[in-house]
Amino acid sequence: MAARPKITVVGAGNVGASVAQYAVEKELGDVVLVDVVEGVPQGKALDLAQAGPIHRYDAALVGSNGYDETGDSDVVVITAGLARKPGMTRDDLLFKNAEIVGSVVEQIVARSKNAILVLVTNPLDAMVQLAWKKSGFQTARVVGMAGVLDSARFRTFIAQELQVSVENVTAFVLGGHGDTMVPLPRYSTVAGIPITELLPKEKIDALVQRTANGGAEIVGLLKTGSAYYAPSASVVAMVNAIANDTREILPVCAWTTGQYGVSDVYLGVPARLGRAGVDEVVELDLNEDELARLREAAEGIRAKCEDLAKL
Ligand SMILES: NC(=O)c1ccc[n+]([C@@H]2O[C@H](COP(=O)([O-])OP(=O)(O)OC[C@H]3O[C@@H](n4cnc5c(N)ncnc54)[C@H](O)[C@@H]3O)[C@@H](O)[C@H]2O)c1
Repeated sequence: MAARPKITVVGAGNVGASVAQYAVEKELGDVVLVDVVEGVPQGKALDLAQAGPIHRYDAALVGSNGYDETGDSDVVVITAGLARKPGMTRDDLLFKNAEIVGSVVEQIVARSKNAILVLVTNPLDAMVQLAWKKSGFQTARVVGMAGVLDSARFRTFIAQELQVSVENVTAFVLGGHGDTMVPLPRYSTVAGIPITELLPKEKIDALVQRTANGGAEIVGLLKTGSAYYAPSASVVAMVNAIANDTREILPVCAWTTGQYGVSDVYLGVPARLGRAGVDEVVELDLNEDELARLREAAEGIRAKCEDLAKL
């Protein structure tokens, strides 16, 4: 019998622990949780293992403060780092989290040469690029989670506005994870009907605005820490696509090679995700305004990565 996929989650905080929980509940594989805080990854792994008999999963769960247990992982999710507090932007986290993510990637790639890396730590787009550089991996094997979450937020607001099931709603939010996200109402549908045919422009603009502010709205409510249920569910959707080679088209932060007129930068784009990571960036037929905003997002990310390279 083939071994279960091995999923390592670095950072056993709010997002990391929920990723571990959803991943074992969905029986995606065995999970190794890593964190610098002594006892926390071990305690959460043990606690989750003891939910197994009730939720009926047999996954092996291991917690550690080191990396030896992570060897030969198939998928590695990196959530280690600081999260936003009220009044902070994602970019305020840039330098501190760059240090953390850089050292995590070095430890991981020394032990898992064939893994797919899924970055979550903010500021997301810059962390993906940094992780790719540090890893020496092919671009396809390093990917970031943001668009699945931003699209899920947009889908939620659309479903609430139109009083329909979330299952009827698809949406695409591309671009950067932050002020430069690019929601695409023309490619967001309810049972196949673009929302531009169902809602007036002012209403769509309000939903787009709430989506762009979706993370900050939750940070403002929680006061300590940021959102984690929808973020971890989004990560697990990507882990599922990779572990089960579903080849789903999802909005992810992927390397661009000329698509949308953008090259050599990680950007939120629709991409087909499977066992080998990103196997194709999908090009939608965007209008001039959408293209301009996507290119602007790409240049913003490029500038942030150049700031990091000066370190
Ligand atoms: N991409 C997205 O859409 C998205 C969504 C939500 C959160 N995030 C980001 O994910 C990150 C984690 O968020 P959270 O809410 O889980 O925060 P958290 O503070 O609850 O957890 C972070 C964990 O990382 C650990 N950590 C710190 N340095 C480490 C290191 N060197 N090695 C291993 N572990 C280390 C901490 O001990 C902590 O347990 C943040 O940067 C947050 O901004 C991104």
